[in-house]
Amino acid sequence: MVSRVIPVDPFDLVIFGGTGDLAQRKIVPALFRRYCAGQWPEATRIIGAARGALTVESFRDIVAESLRQYAPKRSKDPEAVNGFLQRINYVPLDALSEDGWAPLSELLSTDRIRAFYFSVGPRLFGPLAERIRAHNLATPQTRIVVEKPFGHDLESARALNATLASHFDEGQIYRIDHYLGKETVQNLMAVRFGNMLFEPLWNSQYVDHIQITVAETVGIDGREEYYERAGAMRDMMQNHLMQLLCLIAMEPPAKFDPDAVRDEKLKVIRALDPVEPHHIVRGQFAGGKQGRGYREVVGNNRSTTESYVALRAHISNWRWAGTPFYLRTGKELVARSSVINVMFKDAPHSIFGEEAGRHANALSIRLQPNEGITLKVTIKEPGQGGMRLVDVPLDMSFAEALGPENQDPPDAYERLVMDVIRGNQTLFMRGDEVEAAWAWTDPIIAGWQARGDVPKPYENGSTGPGDAELLMKRDHRRWQGINP
Ligand code: BG6
Repeated sequence: MVSRVIPVDPFDLVIFGGTGDLAQRKIVPALFRRYCAGQWPEATRIIGAARGALTVESFRDIVAESLRQYAPKRSKDPEAVNGFLQRINYVPLDALSEDGWAPLSELLSTDRIRAFYFSVGPRLFGPLAERIRAHNLATPQTRIVVEKPFGHDLESARALNATLASHFDEGQIYRIDHYLGKETVQNLMAVRFGNMLFEPLWNSQYVDHIQITVAETVGIDGREEYYERAGAMRDMMQNHLMQLLCLIAMEPPAKFDPDAVRDEKLKVIRALDPVEPHHIVRGQFAGGKQGRGYREVVGNNRSTTESYVALRAHISNWRWAGTPFYLRTGKELVARSSVINVMFKDAPHSIFGEEAGRHANALSIRLQPNEGITLKVTIKEPGQGGMRLVDVPLDMSFAEALGPENQDPPDAYERLVMDVIRGNQTLFMRGDEVEAAWAWTDPIIAGWQARGDVPKPYENGSTGPGDAELLMKRDHRRWQGINP
């Protein structure tokens, strides 16, 4: 099955922080892949802007190198690379002074979509927004894109929202959570709302509990300073896992439209109960055969920043009252695996008697890697006398089902950057959503600080701290395996 490419209109995209890691690792390769797919027209221009006094040629060299590294397959085609590089420009510019703004202004066309990508630290969001306005660069067709971290807590997120709102309408602000751009994350909505099969069972009457796991094998090398201030709660839970929780738990929106979807997500976050301290486990990787411990990596042998967090959340609404949501995420774990498991209740009565054992359906949605869906169903164990039951998977790997050209799903940034150009905010966080997520997260972190909580050590390459298993065991449940 070949996916259809819907071309967008020509646009000017300015990437502030154009020479930075995110721009070169994610944004530029994503734009290149969309260029190769024929999604955007030749007239489009991508303008890198950063403090470095580079020439356009030397910036293009940097871009060419990123393509070799981060888009290795496509960058083997010299014609595509050259065509793409011709669309690339560069302006030396300072967010904190007037330097470079007049030349930038001269490069931009007045009659087309204009996007400013703030691929810089949040302290520059305000000054950039202000200068875009001051230099009259914000046309009605202008959008700005801001990256996480969107604030460090509720107060800073509010301040950021207020600053951006003083220069742009909410409809022009695209807050990225790249998890929303992942193909299978969007598929969550397709599975729930495109099928009759699941939605009638999608509530506390039939669902025993839901597990959301985002396990990573990577550590925090190269990001020590940021991570030491953030920890897993701010880095992953407040945003990526929260977004997954919203998509799994929200009511069906009336249509797939930005505000309809975001209204429903917001209701989920607002219905979350505060988390009880004994329903949270924090962990910190402690080293072992597979690498250094967290404290050694950050060079602080008293650090209490968590690199792992598992918790039990409750959504107090009609649909979910009584169904716990167990969420966990961590670094330096045994495998890279993001999966959502919807664990259904046992059948109310077993006609097969005790001997058949207890069986329950489970729906696993694998977000990455090996994207797909598995439904565990109970059948008769073949060949046995009597009626013994066994669980078997009804397994669908998207790559197998959709054909080889879908083996390599587009990167989240490809989808998201094109949505910015199309002016579709459905997969971007609204200001009130971000604030609500912080309002839920802040008391958890404040509680740790007040109690002087120290995270539990876990071995690198393990499944996390033992206490996370206890969190489940106490409820007579267990985590599904972390399998790559
Ligand atoms: C980022 C976090 O937002 O997401 C990182 O800051 C994390 O710590 C990354 O590693 C995970 O993204 P992905 O797409 O690799 O699952």
